[in-house]
Amino acid sequence: MTTEEKVYKQALDYALKKIEKNTVILKDSFPFVTVNGKWELCDDKDWDLEIFKDGYWCNGFWIGLLWLAYKHTKDDKFKEKAYELCRLIEPRKNSNKIHDLGFLFYPSFCVGYDITKEEYLKSVALTAADSLLSRYNEKIGGITTLGDPEECGLTAIDTMMNLPLLWWTYEKTGNEKYHDTACRHALTTQQHIVRKDGSTYHGIGFDPCTGQIKGKYTSQGANVESCWSRGQAWGIYGFAFAYKYTKKEEFLKTAEKLADYYIVNCPLDYVPYWDFNDSAIPNTVKDSSAAAITASGLLDLANVVPDKIKAEKYEQMACSILGSLTKNYLSIRSDSQAGVLLHGCFHKPKNVAIDNSLIFGDYYYMEALTKLING
Ligand code: GLY
Repeated sequence: MTTEEKVYKQALDYALKKIEKNTVILKDSFPFVTVNGKWELCDDKDWDLEIFKDGYWCNGFWIGLLWLAYKHTKDDKFKEKAYELCRLIEPRKNSNKIHDLGFLFYPSFCVGYDITKEEYLKSVALTAADSLLSRYNEKIGGITTLGDPEECGLTAIDTMMNLPLLWWTYEKTGNEKYHDTACRHALTTQQHIVRKDGSTYHGIGFDPCTGQIKGKYTSQGANVESCWSRGQAWGIYGFAFAYKYTKKEEFLKTAEKLADYYIVNCPLDYVPYWDFNDSAIPNTVKDSSAAAITASGLLDLANVVPDKIKAEKYEQMACSILGSLTKNYLSIRSDSQAGVLLHGCFHKPKNVAIDNSLIFGDYYYMEALTKLING
């Protein structure tokens, strides 16, 4: 084992210990961000009434962490807890009020099915995929974000991470409508949200009846023309995933363009500030979750890009990011912290959890480590 491999293995063991501890503490609750080192919870009760509470899209990630822990250890307690929590979010499979169905159901039900092959997990994921599909607006050529699908004309870079639920469903059912809708959405994103220099807008508003563009917007970035780091990370991972499933050359090109923007513009420690263009840099916060998502996406990109030199470049960058996160962003020196990765930024403009642990940061960090260790 090389020194680097030993470091990743130790980091994974550390993450596993935290998950084990949190499994006992959290019981049937869902963590989403830490406050003073403790997980804030976003229960799945009454989610329909409180759909816009901050963590409403995050409940799949804790389940995903439990599945990753089960896959790595084969310890049944992780599997049992994952099932228990799956049953709590299952009712959301029928709601099409949000585009976040991929965030909710992919790490929980799809990842769970791929590990266990349990039919229950597959059938719930397929229903969730249908709900997501029903947010597709033909005039826009895209899946819209929140609220009544007839009235909403907003699309966002984040939605690229909900498409894996559709491609996974296509793979399981052979039904092309899932594949084609996901491709159409990715093409619209590529056309309107990705800029010439490889950075990304947060989103575009369309008229839902005519499909005419009304304007660009940001809700989590510094300003409309800036590049919100986590949006960029969702785009890198999302387009690498799109290419992995479709083998469409244009998605590969877009994934590379977005990845290259990150590589050229990230700070010396490879972990971006919360927005690449915040005028306060360097006196502002970083977002370790954007780095973890990017590292995991780059490992996928390195695996699928046919050019060997590029593959090496993306793998090297993923390792540099993970090395930096492991050395300087782990909660290892602070036992009172419930999360694994420190210094994530949930929502800077709203001032919500701007320098904290985030459950999805932990999820993608652990996912990237397992990709490196298990291949
Ligand atoms: N809604 C996804 C995010 O905050 O990154």
